[in-house]
Amino acid sequence: MLIKLMNKERVFSGIQPSGEFTLGNYLGATRNWVRDQDKKINYFCIVDLHSLTVPQDPEELRHQTRSLAAMLMACGLTPEKSTIFIQSHVKAHTEGCWLLNTITPLGWLQRMTQFKDKAAKQESILTGLLDYPVLMAGDIIFYDADEVPVGDDQKQHVELARDIAQAFNHRYEEEFFVVPKPVIPTAGARVMGLDDPTRKMSKSYAHIRGHAVRILDEDKEIMRSFKKAVTDSDNEIVFSDDPAKAGVRNLLGIYQAITGKDNEGVLADFADARGYGDLKVRVGEAVINEVAPIRERHKELMNDPAELDRLLAQGAAQAEAVSQPKVDQMKEIMGLIVPK
Ligand code: TRP
Repeated sequence: MLIKLMNKERVFSGIQPSGEFTLGNYLGATRNWVRDQDKKINYFCIVDLHSLTVPQDPEELRHQTRSLAAMLMACGLTPEKSTIFIQSHVKAHTEGCWLLNTITPLGWLQRMTQFKDKAAKQESILTGLLDYPVLMAGDIIFYDADEVPVGDDQKQHVELARDIAQAFNHRYEEEFFVVPKPVIPTAGARVMGLDDPTRKMSKSYAHIRGHAVRILDEDKEIMRSFKKAVTDSDNEIVFSDDPAKAGVRNLLGIYQAITGKDNEGVLADFADARGYGDLKVRVGEAVINEVAPIRERHKELMNDPAELDRLLAQGAAQAEAVSQPKVDQMKEIMGLIVPK
C-alpha cells in the first residue's frame, strides 16, 4: 500500500486566472482532472504571476483569481485529494525562478514561439514576458512533477522545463530535478468555438459574444449561444470529419462528452430531432443541466470568502511544504547560505 502510494505519478497543472472559465476548459481538461484525482498526486496551481506578464486590471485580476479557485473546487477538485493553491502565495516559485534564471541561456527564451508572437504585437517588450517560461519551469520542477497536462500551445514551454532541469542536473547534481514530460490529453472533448467551429473554444476569447459558453453564464445566455451556433445548410445530423460539418460535429461532441454515450447512442438520441434547431436546443439543455449545479456550488463558495480563504491557505501550506525545501536544497547546492 505504502509502496503504491509512493509510486504514484505527480502531476502539475497550471491555469491562468485571466479570462472566464468556459465549457471547453471544463469538458476538455478540468473534468478529467476531477476523474483522475485518486490515481495521481495532483497540484493545481492558479498562476496569477503568469497573468501579470500582460496588462491586467488589479481588481479584476484579484476577483478572477478567487473566482477560478472557487470554480475548480465547484467542478469537483477537492482539497482532500489535491493540492489547490495560488502561485503567488508560495514564495518558492519566485525565489526559485531567480535561481533558474542564472542557468538559463537567453537564447532559449528568445526562441519560444509564444514569446515571439506576443512580443511582435507589443511596442515595449517586458522582461516578465521573456522570463515567463522560466517561472513556469520552476512551477513544475520544484514539485518533482513527472507529468504536465497541457494543450499544444504549451508543449514547447514544458520542453524548455525539461531542458532547464537537465541543465541544472548536469551542472550541479545528477538527478536532482525530475525531468517532466508534457501530456497532451487525448481523452476528453476538444470543444470548438460556437461561432467558429474550426477554432478551439478559448478562455482568451470568452468575451466575444457567441464564441464560448462560460460556466457562469445564466441558463438563458447559454441557450442563446447554442441557438446561434454556426452549423451548415444540409440539415443532416451525423458524425463527420468533413470540415463543412465541423459545427454539427462540435455539438454532437459536446453532447457526447456530457452523456458519455458512444456515437450510436448519441445519434439515437437525435433520431427524432426535427433539424438543427432541435439539435441545438437539446445540446443546450444537456449543457445547462450539467453546469447548473457547478454554478450553484461556485456561488456558495464565493459567498463564503472566509471558507475559501481557509481552503486556499491550506493548499498554499501543502504546496510550500514540498517546494520550499526543494528550493532551499538548490540554494545550498548552488553555494548560497541557507539560514537554519
Ligand atoms: N503557461 C500556462 C498557460 O498559459 C500556464 C502555466 C503556468 C502552467 N505554469 C504552469 C501550465 C505549469 C502547466 C504547468 O496555459
